[in-house]
Amino acid sequence: MNLKTFIRDIPDFPTAGVIFRDITPLLKDPKAIKFTEEALLDLVGNLKVDKVVGMESRGFFFAPMLAARLNAGFVPVRKPGKLPFATMRQDYDLEYGSDALEMHSDAIIAGDKVLVHDDVLATGGTAQATCRLIEKMGGEIVQCNFLLELDFLKGKDKLVDFAVKSLLHY
Ligand code: PRP
Ligand code: MG
Repeated sequence: MNLKTFIRDIPDFPTAGVIFRDITPLLKDPKAIKFTEEALLDLVGNLKVDKVVGMESRGFFFAPMLAARLNAGFVPVRKPGKLPFATMRQDYDLEYGSDALEMHSDAIIAGDKVLVHDDVLATGGTAQATCRLIEKMGGEIVQCNFLLELDFLKGKDKLVDFAVKSLLHY
């Protein structure tokens, strides 16, 4: 199955000059969902995984499915102020300004083997901040995987310490 045929290009969204890669056509096709799940699992291979960490919002589509299949727990990383319990916070820089991500402080136990999953790797800021949070909590990142990677934005350069795999490249 050619998954790229299920990804819709939206020119000039959210701003002029950007092509948004819309995965909702993939998400509404049951065969494409199953194919994506299996393909993401193939990226993981037989790595041992205790926790799958997914980033709000679009990382939540596949991360819990992967966790269930890997017999691992799922941990959400959320934008600030969303999580109700004690949190760990990681700030990170954007092109203009900064943002932050949070994770519950009991989400990762030291020594946990962690798979990081998000839909898109773009500049790498989101994934890098997530990896920092996990490492602060003593987790060991075994892989970062993505449905698609925007190669020209060089997000991988922010994740040089980790194994990074993506199903699709643009
Ligand atoms: C998008 C995408 C990734 C992130 C990648 O999320 O889902 O999480 O950007 O960008 P980066 O590599 O430059 O950090 P977005 O922040 O748009 O929010 P959403 O998932 O809630 O739609
Ligand atoms: Mg996102």
